[in-house]
Amino acid sequence: MKPWQGRFKLNTSSLVEEFTASIGFDRRLHGYDIKGSIAHAKMLAKISIITEKEAAKIEEGLAEIFREIEADKFIFDPADEDIHMAIERALIDKIGPLGGKLHTARSRNDQVALDTRMYLKDEIKATMSLIIELQKVLMGLAEENIKVILPGLTHLQHAQPILFAHHLMAYFFMLERDFDRLKDCYYRTDSMPLGSGALAGTVFPIDRFFVAEELGFSKVSENSMDSVSDRDFIAEFLSAASLIMLHLSRLSEELVIWSSLEFDFIEIGDDFTTGSSIMPQKKNPDVAEIVRGKCGRVFGDLMAILTTLKSLPLAYNRDLQEDKEALFDGVDTVQTCLKVYAAMLGSVKVKADKMKTSAEKGFLTATDMADYLAEKGIAFRDAHKVVGELVAYAIEKSVDLKDLELKELKSFSPLFDKDVMSLILVETSVERRKSFGGTASSAVAKEIDIAKKMLKEEEIWLT
Ligand code: ARG
Repeated sequence: MKPWQGRFKLNTSSLVEEFTASIGFDRRLHGYDIKGSIAHAKMLAKISIITEKEAAKIEEGLAEIFREIEADKFIFDPADEDIHMAIERALIDKIGPLGGKLHTARSRNDQVALDTRMYLKDEIKATMSLIIELQKVLMGLAEENIKVILPGLTHLQHAQPILFAHHLMAYFFMLERDFDRLKDCYYRTDSMPLGSGALAGTVFPIDRFFVAEELGFSKVSENSMDSVSDRDFIAEFLSAASLIMLHLSRLSEELVIWSSLEFDFIEIGDDFTTGSSIMPQKKNPDVAEIVRGKCGRVFGDLMAILTTLKSLPLAYNRDLQEDKEALFDGVDTVQTCLKVYAAMLGSVKVKADKMKTSAEKGFLTATDMADYLAEKGIAFRDAHKVVGELVAYAIEKSVDLKDLELKELKSFSPLFDKDVMSLILVETSVERRKSFGGTASSAVAKEIDIAKKMLKEEEIWLT
């Protein structure tokens, strides 16, 4: 018999029962549902709707149900529509009609909003700690390879030489913004909806602030209709998760390229790569590829929640039940990817020589030569043209800029002098880019310093 059976003459069709049930996936909220119910029962006792003794009995029953679910001993009834009804039904089975008093001044609409917010608050924090772990691995790899130079690319073409550490730290700061977005999302998730009732509040003299305090919420939602129908916090989380995945997909792409024979800049550990069933020589960067692929899943989760919410009239509509699978999938996917990524990056062997050899090809220091002429007083545009012609000449001769003689350089511009020869070296090119945020080792040391302070602040926020 369903708790809402009263006004129905027929039993629910089993087809509808199956179709409308969310118990298959929302059982993951059981711990939050039980915590929320215990706080609600305490509040009911505080305002004398039930006695302290009754509240204690309800709490005991709920604690027992919690232990049973955790130990996989709880028997779900096929008629249990969702986790909220399953727990309430089990409570009444256990402690009798008193169990039925728990639902006073509450509806499943505000209950599910509460459970989902409690769940997500924990998962946001768990995601944030995983971001920190990955940031630490990136920083460790940067510090270990602080002198390594590789070609920096634009349009995937050789552009200017850069420090590998600088390249890695770019991802550190992307993740920093991801951390910040989650912090922001946490702030809005941290609003307590229970006590909104079905949509209009309740006639009972409830104390919502007491419940918020019991459950560690810093705010109480201000509008009962908004509280039961708002799922912005899920869309926000999935949007932040999408950007994390997007950032990981960009790094994945680079790892895949770097580990190709053509680049050969890195080798991912045997324990984090896989082989081919037919080609014996193969060692594939599958982890990076799968992470890149899982991006589509999380973007899909975001699209799903946005589409579900679009045009929904106030207040609660059953469509909202569709929020959970997308959210759970997004949480699981982003967390697994962050975890496996930190481990995989730890297995990467950096081939500094290969990177350096590649950086010496492709006229990476041409800009430095143009800057040199501009520093001597000619317009940068003219300097650009002179060096462009010089590059064309070198290509024709099949040599690098550093192989050219000073007198050859002088035939392009009399302003070239001996001192230009050191500027052609990739090391000099890197070290002269001392501007704040630039790739010189002094500038990179500064950014790592800043990053360390950020990490400390992140850790403080999480504790
Ligand atoms: N399982 C439902 C959900 O996830 C709980 C709320 C149901 N409320 C209702 N009025 N049928 O949204």
